[in-house]
Amino acid sequence: TYVVTDNCINCKFTDCVEVCPVDCFYEGENTLVIHPDECIDCGVCEPECPADAIRPDTDAGMEPWVELNQKYAELWPVIVEKKDPMPDADDWNGKDGKLALLSV
Ligand code: SF4
Ligand code: F3S
Repeated sequence: TYVVTDNCINCKFTDCVEVCPVDCFYEGENTLVIHPDECIDCGVCEPECPADAIRPDTDAGMEPWVELNQKYAELWPVIVEKKDPMPDADDWNGKDGKLALLSV
């Protein structure tokens, strides 16, 4: 499966949503997550993210992100259409320490 990581926080560009063939993105207040049981591992979303926030779960150090995506995919609503990014998304893109800003 693929996972959304911290650089999505406060950006939420949603280009990923538009290309996912199985609509497995779920939306929180300031980030998205991927449902690991629904993702078919196609990989098409990864290069579409302007924030470079999507990774295969086989990358090193992804365990906390797998857990976070799994947890919130069960709690948040599905998102199936692209929408405007968050305000100041371009300024937030690439900032450090964004995990502390996650809204749940
Ligand atoms: Fe959707 Fe494919 Fe990305 Fe999984 S890897 S979230 S199925 S676009
Ligand atoms: Fe987030 Fe990138 Fe999608 S910023 S909403 S994972 S396009």
